[in-house]
Amino acid sequence: MPRFFVALLLLLVVVLGAPTYAAGASASPDHVTLSWTADPATTMTVTWRTDTSVTTGTVEFSNSDARVPKAAAAAVAHDFTTDLGTVCLFTATLTGLTAHTRYTYRVGGGAQWSDAHTFTTADPRTHDVKFLVFGDSQSSPTGTAPYGLWRTTVHNAYAANPDARFMVNVGDLVDTGQSGAHWEAWFAALAGVGESLPVMPVVGNHETYGQPGSGKPSYWLAQFTLPQNGPAGLKGQVYSYTYGPVHCAVLDSQQDEEKAAGDIFTPQKRWLDADLTASKTPWTFAFFHKTPYDIKADRANPTVKAAFCPVLEQHHVDIVFNGHDHGIARTFPMHDGAAMARPAQGTVYYIAGRSGGKTYADLQKKPWNTFFYNPLDQPDYLVVEVKGQTLTVKAVKQDGTLLDLYREDKTTDRSTDSQATPAAVGTN
Ligand SMILES: [Fe+2]
Ligand SMILES: [Fe+2]
Repeated sequence: MPRFFVALLLLLVVVLGAPTYAAGASASPDHVTLSWTADPATTMTVTWRTDTSVTTGTVEFSNSDARVPKAAAAAVAHDFTTDLGTVCLFTATLTGLTAHTRYTYRVGGGAQWSDAHTFTTADPRTHDVKFLVFGDSQSSPTGTAPYGLWRTTVHNAYAANPDARFMVNVGDLVDTGQSGAHWEAWFAALAGVGESLPVMPVVGNHETYGQPGSGKPSYWLAQFTLPQNGPAGLKGQVYSYTYGPVHCAVLDSQQDEEKAAGDIFTPQKRWLDADLTASKTPWTFAFFHKTPYDIKADRANPTVKAAFCPVLEQHHVDIVFNGHDHGIARTFPMHDGAAMARPAQGTVYYIAGRSGGKTYADLQKKPWNTFFYNPLDQPDYLVVEVKGQTLTVKAVKQDGTLLDLYREDKTTDRSTDSQATPAAVGTN
């Protein structure tokens, strides 16, 4: 081969093979995700990423009133390094928004802008809200459709519930928390939903994996921008927010995985007690990953139960949403381990099932369950809807088939579950 062509070939190898930026990221914004770090009626937080060639970012936004000029908010940028390389993450919180108003926005800068997306601010006077809850979405990051089941679940859920105001993942979003490939696939699957539906996730044990020693869910913390009102050392992992008639408290159940940080339960118990004491909403929900009322044949979470349940039940949290067991299960209203007859007497614990690929064959209905289904056939999601004094929780298969329909009415202190009676349970 002539020397010129050898030199040209070597040059091409050097140029094309040179490390540039983390796989997936480019100068064009992606992973555009909404969340709240402050009041849902007057603020919205937007997070996105680019490669490291971009160092500044802006959110341009406007409401539907053409008389109001378009506004811009500068983003805070920081580098984020994974096993795939370094990217740049941006976050901006839009403030002073008009309540109950639809906004259009785009993110980026210069010649690199995202598509235009929309969101609607909360109506602080509303008595109604609907939101979606997803069980563990952890899946394989390889193959022709990585995290494809999660993609179908979240897209089907939002298409069937375009009036949902936010979504919650109850932990184990990915199978290996410190793995860039898993998050690439997870965010790619979320694209088309997370730009218009605020994402308020919960940390699970798998978010701590892939980083020996610390147990800290580092990738999760870097990529989600969440309320910083939790206890010291656990901010972003533990937080709360209020949307109209609903207060949501998010906890971290991973004492075993995060033991390098010391005792994470005691500060959460103190924080939760103060948070729920201050909350005056008609409905209160809590979210954490490891369920106190398990459905596995060989696994329970007694330390989680001992830490959180007394505080949750003392404040009469209406429903606790959990993950970890990958099955769909609802309990009686529980108080101090006993099943109660009426909703006002206890807290219902609801395991959300699975929104991704992982299943367990050894799930079983336990004495405390009034509904149980092992979703081996297809993934599922929950639709939670508050309308004034009534609450509805639906468990729905990925294809839309209704599995569970649970209703509570605070005016009558009745639930619609007529099949089961607490006399069948006893204490545990
Ligand atoms: Fe899981
Ligand atoms: Fe888990």
